[in-house]
Amino acid sequence: MYYPEELVEEVRAKNDIVDVVSGYVRLQKKGGNYWACCPFHGEKTPSFSVSGSKQMYHCFGCGVSGNVYTFVMKYENYSFPEAVKQLADRAGVKLPEMEYTEEQKARAGRRARLLEVNKEAAKFFYYQLRSPHGTIGLRYLQKRELTDETMRRFGLGYAGKSGEELVKYLRSRGFEDDLIKEAGLANFSERHGLMSQFWNRVMYPIQDVNNRVIGFGGRVMGDGEPKYLNSPETPVFDKRRNLYGLNFARTARSGNIIICEGYMDVISMHQAGFTQAVASLGTAFTPEQANLLRRYTDTVLLAYDSDGAGVKAALRGIGILRDAGLTARVINMKPHKDPDEFMKALGKEAFQERIDQAENSFFFEIRMLEEQHDMSDPESKTKFHREIARKLCEFTEDVERDNYLQAVAEKYFIGIENLRKLVVSYAAQTGLAKPAERPRTGVQQKNSPEESARRAQRLLLTWITDEPPAYEKIKKYISAEDFTEELYQKVAERLFADMDAGRFNPAGIISTFEDEEEQHEAAELFNTNLPELGTKQDREKAFHDILFSVKKNSYEYFSARLGSDVNALNQVIAGKKALEELAKTHISLD
Ligand code: CTP
Ligand code: MN
Repeated sequence: MYYPEELVEEVRAKNDIVDVVSGYVRLQKKGGNYWACCPFHGEKTPSFSVSGSKQMYHCFGCGVSGNVYTFVMKYENYSFPEAVKQLADRAGVKLPEMEYTEEQKARAGRRARLLEVNKEAAKFFYYQLRSPHGTIGLRYLQKRELTDETMRRFGLGYAGKSGEELVKYLRSRGFEDDLIKEAGLANFSERHGLMSQFWNRVMYPIQDVNNRVIGFGGRVMGDGEPKYLNSPETPVFDKRRNLYGLNFARTARSGNIIICEGYMDVISMHQAGFTQAVASLGTAFTPEQANLLRRYTDTVLLAYDSDGAGVKAALRGIGILRDAGLTARVINMKPHKDPDEFMKALGKEAFQERIDQAENSFFFEIRMLEEQHDMSDPESKTKFHREIARKLCEFTEDVERDNYLQAVAEKYFIGIENLRKLVVSYAAQTGLAKPAERPRTGVQQKNSPEESARRAQRLLLTWITDEPPAYEKIKKYISAEDFTEELYQKVAERLFADMDAGRFNPAGIISTFEDEEEQHEAAELFNTNLPELGTKQDREKAFHDILFSVKKNSYEYFSARLGSDVNALNQVIAGKKALEELAKTHISLD
């Protein structure tokens, strides 16, 4: 934990969620709750509700829910510690300086120094660009149609022709040689001593999401080699986990994020108003970057170069994004090479059209396959159809697979039934009929026994938080261990312990998780949509069914682990008894 749990809780309790949220959106009171149009998805009628008693929000439209921390994190795109800080300030709570071990201090000190030297170097390059020595760099950027404002916004600079000046400057500011070297700003040679790594290049400082300069990309003037020179990896520059432009893109609120290949592409797009554009850092797109993007969007548009390498990169990217549970679409840049050239030639309206027409990633993949096959040759064409069947098998959900099957059959004039047969035979041959393992956070497979069990557990927790008195009636049948999903179990443990002690504080439980994904998942447990039930009888029956199903799942879960889990035997014996008792017990809900 970044801060002690009690302090996190104190800050949360001092920031009433209704107050905080009404600082961002207009809330209207209706019934016991407050309502607004959801700030996290586009809608015209309010389905976003804020509950003062639960100290939580929930959107019935897009399903987001959470407490005051997750709201601020989501709205401001803050990390958890940032949200704690902001709300502590708001409530006038003083946060302590955190305690570190000597080693942590040394490491943190080193990282801080690296960031300082980078910042100082960025300043140096920035002023060089605007000095007489930098005219050549400035001309170059002007020729590429960047405005002064854009150059300023991205902190663009110029590394002069002398390899010594940067080093001299940094030394004069008190930075030691080995720090300058470790930051990747200079190299040491016997002949020349410490010399700048970058010279005669326009400089693109690379910033992390908190606007700190973590590295540099330098572009040669004209046609030299290598065209781009990037800082090496350092303790502050992790190329797999950062994206160029994300410090701006994270607040773009455009409903998507565009990934492209080059720094210049990002800058051109931002200049034209597409501030949701980012690029990877001279390396291929990584799963870590996909994960990072998941914090800000669920739809990623790929704007890779329209050449062969760009297509290959796009196909790789699609796979990575899909694994991260993100929707990918592909922007067609033709007849131009990259977004920068496109923007210059056709302008932003045309680019917006290409965004609107971005191709579904599945159809993009199929179209690329088509290009590798000769449709006038029956054998090649058959192979193509088999490839389509193979790709269709990647959809684990029947409805989704069938929708795609119909669409692709129509588009490529394949008989639906024939294609369906191909899919079935392909799945049977390769054992793919069983759905492939999907990442936990990705699109969840619906209706599997595991998912039904999880759903029952979520419903039960939501029901108890909506109607705390129900807990008293069922506590002898149920315990935290019955929640077989690890995170659910932690939540249940806290909730039940609180309620046993006469407290009720679901919103506080959410912030006991550090990881943002976990916080969202925990919040969901208190905000599952309960069935709409009219009569008391119906409600009692539904409640009983949910309880029974949670208990039954737990019994089966532990029965299957009898040999391997020391805890299992107790659970099985107690579970059996509880199930028998429950079967003949009526639980009233008033
Ligand atoms: N790149 C690199 N090293 C190179 C060439 C490219 O690291 N030698 C990376 C850079 O991050 C660059 C990206 O790959 O931004 C895209 O390369 P390219 O398409 O060649 O660059 P453009 O952005 O089109 O460059 P420019 O428009 O300045 O010619
Ligand atoms: Mn380019």
